Amino acid sequence: MSKRTALLIGAGGFGRVHLNELVRLSDEGLLELAAVSDVRLPDNAAAVMAERGIRHYADYREMLAGESGADFVIVSTPIPLHVPMSVDAMEAGYHVLLEKPPAAVIQDVDRIAAAAGRTGRLCAVNFMAPSPKALALVERTVASGELGRIRCIKAIALLRRTAAYYGRTPWAGKLSANGALVLDGAFHNPAAHLLYSMLKLAETAAGALDRQTEPLRVTAEMYHANQIESDDTSAMRIEMSDGTPLCYYVTLCARETETQRIRIEGTEGALEWDYGDQVRVWRYGLGKAHDCAEGGMLERRYRNLIRAIDGEDDRLDVSLASTRRFALAANGAFESSGTVRTIPDAFVTRSAAEDMPGAYIHGIEADIKAAYAAGKLFSELGVPWAVPSEPFELEAYRHFPQRFNAAGI
Ligand SMILES: NC(=O)c1ccc[n+]([C@@H]2O[C@H](COP(=O)([O-])OP(=O)(O)OC[C@H]3O[C@@H](n4cnc5c(N)ncnc54)[C@H](O)[C@@H]3O)[C@@H](O)[C@H]2O)c1
Repeated sequence: MSKRTALLIGAGGFGRVHLNELVRLSDEGLLELAAVSDVRLPDNAAAVMAERGIRHYADYREMLAGESGADFVIVSTPIPLHVPMSVDAMEAGYHVLLEKPPAAVIQDVDRIAAAAGRTGRLCAVNFMAPSPKALALVERTVASGELGRIRCIKAIALLRRTAAYYGRTPWAGKLSANGALVLDGAFHNPAAHLLYSMLKLAETAAGALDRQTEPLRVTAEMYHANQIESDDTSAMRIEMSDGTPLCYYVTLCARETETQRIRIEGTEGALEWDYGDQVRVWRYGLGKAHDCAEGGMLERRYRNLIRAIDGEDDRLDVSLASTRRFALAANGAFESSGTVRTIPDAFVTRSAAEDMPGAYIHGIEADIKAAYAAGKLFSELGVPWAVPSEPFELEAYRHFPQRFNAAGI
């Protein structure tokens, strides 16, 4: 693997995590970080950069024009900036590692993909996904028939987000910011990795049986208990073209955060993957644990992109193309729900404390676990604040309407 040169756009917020990792890996000699662009460079980032001679540009376009010796650009900025920044970077000849979600709407994912096709540049996305070792285990287990016929794949995220979470950046919890759609809700941001990973595992399980699978339709219920525009509690069912239903559950209103996990259920057994890349396989009630962790996620993303640039890896672990299904499901969920429903105050306790959810939905832990166990949406389970939605067809879906705003479609 050759030593490649990186540029970073966005060094505050999550960009700080990239900056730290890039500095660490440049110390190890894996890559070089030549320059950073940020309109409001945080003081602590400026200090690290000054110490190491990393150049700063307020305007990212000037950086793209002035650093032509670099190989790839990491884009870690607010969601509406992903399209112009990644397209400009590829047009200027750089490969791109784009933060998740690649864009808020399907037509913008397609615009980035068109730029990648036009320029022949690689575009990877920093979705957290099962490690290659975990994917190989899933493939082997499904192909062996150990689980029997796959009945469904389910994902669950119980997370606690405090009131401060929604104050950290102006676009937090918003459907749109400065006139641009951001759709910054539970499955588009903190649990976006889980939705992407569930679709990835569905693809892997189908591939193990020599099948392809794509989302056909989605039925989703989206709610908020926090005083935000977007969702903090959602459930969706995605019908796939191979017949496997996918069920996804998330809340940011739990008292405690639990490890996010995905379960593949078969007629003879089950497989469960969690965020730490720990996999358990059950057959006839007997479980076996497998440690499939493979190092830090960001390092894996950088290494994979560099190897792909060098031609040593024939594919990206998380290619932009593979994220199209995520965008389809996520946009379709908004279309199906039609609006984000407010959970009545009688079911909610609000708090500004650092160790409490900004809004706690009474009994959400039991409700969401019951829905997950049964593979039902909240309304199908009879949860008192839940309202049914209609399925939304995803075949030939190419455009999310700009008119989706706080008042719904
Ligand atoms: N992979 C993960 O686990 C993870 C975690 C958190 C956030 N994210 C993603 O990272 C991205 C950034 O999120 P965030 O919360 O850090 O956002 P943010 O609003 O904190 O912005 C990040 C940085 O971008 C800079 N910026 C804004 N406009 C700019 C411009 N025109 N030119 C250069 N820099 C500019 C800001 O000054 C800031 O320092 C989003 O896509 C988000 O979903 C990913």
